[in-house]
Amino acid sequence: GEPVEDAAQVISRMSDVVMIRTFEQTIIERFAANSRVPVINGLTNEFHPCQILTDVFTWIEHRGCIQGKTVAWIGDTNNMCNTWLQAAELLDFKVNVSSPKGYEVDLEIANISGNSHFEQFSDPMEAARGAHIITTDVWTSMGFEAENEIRMRDFKDFQVDADMMCVADKDAVFMHCLPAHRGEEVTAEVIDGPQSVVWDEAENRLHAQKALLEFLLLGQLAS
Ligand code: NVA
Repeated sequence: GEPVEDAAQVISRMSDVVMIRTFEQTIIERFAANSRVPVINGLTNEFHPCQILTDVFTWIEHRGCIQGKTVAWIGDTNNMCNTWLQAAELLDFKVNVSSPKGYEVDLEIANISGNSHFEQFSDPMEAARGAHIITTDVWTSMGFEAENEIRMRDFKDFQVDADMMCVADKDAVFMHCLPAHRGEEVTAEVIDGPQSVVWDEAENRLHAQKALLEFLLLGQLAS
């Protein structure tokens, strides 16, 4: 029952960094506004920046620079999708988003300008064509469980499968932030196949977040 603002005052006097996983983004923003220490977004309904830091790092580790590349986001325009869109504007790559009618990207929620770094497609195969990263996420994110049944119907044509991987760039990788639902947003053949880098992504959360802590605590990047 304590106001978030008060919790921030207390907790930030007892710690060096705070990481919060919660629902509305405004909760983190209210906490951060009253915190004496850095506050990391560990996932909200709207954004998932630690995972995108990790995914960009995983791409760099496997293939090099991400500038000028194309990411195909297939499925729900959720926290992961919004954060890919923000990263594209910061790091100068493109995101092709394909989602069912009624689930298109909301530029205001994504907090992006919606310029040449983003394109919306109704046909997922067109979004995937020539892309360097094919990525997706669960059809029902945390906090949206009440919509599960209707989402299973709405998203059934938005599954990443082998045919989709075939139209992507020949060196494309498949990414998923996990946990995954094989047979829903991705087939087992793709997530367990040779183009999948999901286990590297999982491990890299550790390394990316260690780097983030170092950056926040030391205020500089290690040379
Ligand atoms: N979009 C998913 C990500 C899980 C790490 C969710 O918010 O549930």
